[in-house]
Amino acid sequence: MAEDLHIINGTKKEQYEALIPQIKGLLVGETDLVANLANVAAALKEQFHWWWIGFYLVKKDELVLGPFQGPVACTRIRKGRGVCGSSWEQARTLIVPDVEKFPGHIACSSASRSEIVVPLLHDGEVWGVLDADSELLDHYDETDQYYLEMIVALLQP
Ligand code: SME
Repeated sequence: MAEDLHIINGTKKEQYEALIPQIKGLLVGETDLVANLANVAAALKEQFHWWWIGFYLVKKDELVLGPFQGPVACTRIRKGRGVCGSSWEQARTLIVPDVEKFPGHIACSSASRSEIVVPLLHDGEVWGVLDADSELLDHYDETDQYYLEMIVALLQP
């Protein structure tokens, strides 16, 4: 396994296209969930420099903070609460161009302005979410959704 990520410039699509094979390389042969979530969060942070990127995992009736990169964050989120809890409840990706306009948004950090949350699915059940936050408005779009959904499909609970 390569120890260093090869970071590229280019369009968002080009960046994801270069990153995904490297993420596959990081995951291959490793079955430990925390290790894999930690490396995916680190790889996305290194390539895109988002304000916050990480995972929340379903534990009983809550999402609990998992591996992440960025400032300290809220540890527990109930189903249906905030962007993460809504993505869990609806089992779909949510793109929030302006967090102040999302009713019930949970502000773990006042610097966060836009957000994307992608559910982690196994046999149709949500077992966690990937959450990315930006300090820029309107930072995430369908390209992020497409590739982040592809990345989380590589992860198994
Ligand atoms: N903003 C999220 C909470 C998690 S933090 O942003 C890391 C939400 O509304 O669910």
